[in-house]
Amino acid sequence: MPRKGLSNFDDYDDGFDDDDDAYDYDYDIDIDGPEEEEEEVVVPKEETAKQGLWRCAICTYDNDESMFVCDICGVLRHPVAGNQSINKNTAPFKFDAPSPDDLVTNGLTSTKSGPKGSGDSSMRQKEKQDSAENNPLKKGGDSSETSSRGRPDKLDNSFSKGGAGGIKSGKSLPKEKTDMSNETSSSSKYMEPSERLTGTMNEMSLTGETEKSSDIKSIRPKSKSKHKPEEWMLLDKEPDALSQLNLAIVGHVDSGKSTLSGRLLHLLGRISQKQMHKYEKEAKLQGKGSFAYAWALDESAEERERGITMTVAVAYFNSKRHHVVLLDSPGHKDFVPNMIAGATQADAAILVIDASVGAFEAGFDNLKGQTREHARVLRGFGVEQVIVAVNKMDIVGYSKERFDLIKQHVGSFLQTCRFKDSSLTWIPLSAMENQNLVAAPSDNRLSSWYNGPCLLDAVDSVKSPDRDVSKPLLMPICDAVRSTSQGQVSACGKLEAGAVRSGSKVMVMPSGDQGTVRSLERDSQACTIARAGDNVAIALQGIDANQVMAGDVLCHPDFPVSVATHLELMVLVLEGATPILLGSQLEFHVHHAKEAATVVKLVAMLDPKTGQPTKKSPRCLTAKQSAMLEVSLQNPVCVETFSESRALGRVFLRSSGRTVAMGKVTRIIQDS
Ligand code: GTP
Ligand code: MG
Repeated sequence: MPRKGLSNFDDYDDGFDDDDDAYDYDYDIDIDGPEEEEEEVVVPKEETAKQGLWRCAICTYDNDESMFVCDICGVLRHPVAGNQSINKNTAPFKFDAPSPDDLVTNGLTSTKSGPKGSGDSSMRQKEKQDSAENNPLKKGGDSSETSSRGRPDKLDNSFSKGGAGGIKSGKSLPKEKTDMSNETSSSSKYMEPSERLTGTMNEMSLTGETEKSSDIKSIRPKSKSKHKPEEWMLLDKEPDALSQLNLAIVGHVDSGKSTLSGRLLHLLGRISQKQMHKYEKEAKLQGKGSFAYAWALDESAEERERGITMTVAVAYFNSKRHHVVLLDSPGHKDFVPNMIAGATQADAAILVIDASVGAFEAGFDNLKGQTREHARVLRGFGVEQVIVAVNKMDIVGYSKERFDLIKQHVGSFLQTCRFKDSSLTWIPLSAMENQNLVAAPSDNRLSSWYNGPCLLDAVDSVKSPDRDVSKPLLMPICDAVRSTSQGQVSACGKLEAGAVRSGSKVMVMPSGDQGTVRSLERDSQACTIARAGDNVAIALQGIDANQVMAGDVLCHPDFPVSVATHLELMVLVLEGATPILLGSQLEFHVHHAKEAATVVKLVAMLDPKTGQPTKKSPRCLTAKQSAMLEVSLQNPVCVETFSESRALGRVFLRSSGRTVAMGKVTRIIQDS
């Protein structure tokens, strides 16, 4: 079993009805409105301008001679003779060469790489065995291997890690953490008015989305509305049953996420005293004594040596009301794709902020910090409830002023992302000094002014979302684990809809292979039924193990998920993004799938507030603009329109190691 977690979970069968309101607002958008004539813009032509000015080939703005980049759209001036600037400026990676994300997630060896071979699969296999013996959080240790059909950004649960497989940074290897916290310090960049746009994607959607059944590529023998859930699928909720809560821990690098997770698990008895001593001893020996708690989550030799989390670690604990699946995400910018993979599964999140002077400012920096990107990604995935854990309060003497200042700045930013005040909980704490984690603070400097809930109580107060148990089964596969001994395969992931039990018939898409469920494990414990919201490993029978990959989707055979290569998207271009043009090549992320995508049509620019089209066929999209566009994917992916399935309809576009746009699928277009 690939998940990291203790094996003393009670069996539980409760499920929930899902509802996720990230994109609740519909606006009528007349994309055929009286706008400019549609014109095809493939390659920008050189355009002449007045003397002393040069005209941007992309947006035609006349820039001053002294400018090297266009003042309006940021495109480089005359990058190539003839201004064939599309490739130079917007083809962020070639598909015959690894992108920065590929380097990170595929485990390609870097010339400057860290510990030799630490990211390759053989090493990982060895680590898996080692840590299966040594780590109480980990289970199994059976001889199994993971696969991911060249799609790296999946939760890779090999040896209990939930991140992409064989991870090793190729480009810009992160330095030791201590260096990184000094990367930036710019308190002057707290609030960008443009952040207000971030949340507006959540408001936009097309009414009467143009999806037609004929547009859907996959065969759909039955309409989903005809699905009749069997009785066993529905929840027989016992009054005292714990609900499942998938909780992502996110935040800027080095803010203390893993330390906080490790400490919490230790306090809750999920890490034994003996094991903790072992971590302490080993960490000290490596000169990383302060990382002892983080070592519970950062298992690989490379993570420990570099002192950073690289893949999502999965652990489990119970609160009074929830079975919590903890997804400890990497904070370093090189591993945002892995963080995204974890965030796709989150019902709620803990956003960890480093309170110390300089570190908060660095993490909150608009360009170099990850706090904002993580918050946007969470919101983009429909996460509404966030506990903001202001950590390392010990370093600032538990200062109320510092806490209030952080709350003010981060709070305003989160508002612009459309997080509701009422869905945010603010907790000052110190993971290192165990203040305010599972009990009220004992340090007078904190207890004298703080009388709110401790972290565990805040987790308990999070509402478990409703789940789509009565809909047909839908489980994006984050990992496929093969047992080498028996040639069997287990699909791991979070059930987004429906329910399964041993013997259920299932289909793997896009291959269309059908088989049955042999057995189920939840939190590393065998169970009989899994329902929407559960994080499970499903052992499959009758399905070719090679046809099950991370990025695939397990579904009900009568209700196969759509598979497509041509999609219409509604997106918001994020700050700092390079312009998106016709022909731009991007990385397309949806649930655990990642594909190379080409922008084949810029349909219309949209008013970010109203969602109304403001310009048809724009020449390019720049930061903070919202638009409808069409992408063509290199290979088919399992996808649904957002209105059909939120989990399979949210998308991220990345380029050059950055998230450049986020949005949703509004139409699946059948290729002619
Ligand atoms: P990434 O996963 O790489 O993004 O880092 P992280 O957020 O998981 O941080 P990690 O837990 O690895 O901790 C980074 C450093 O911060 C370690 O040296 C910890 O000891 C230290 N740290 C974490 N929490 C606290 C705290 O409450 N107080 C103090 N003083 N140091 C802390
Ligand atoms: Mg960490």
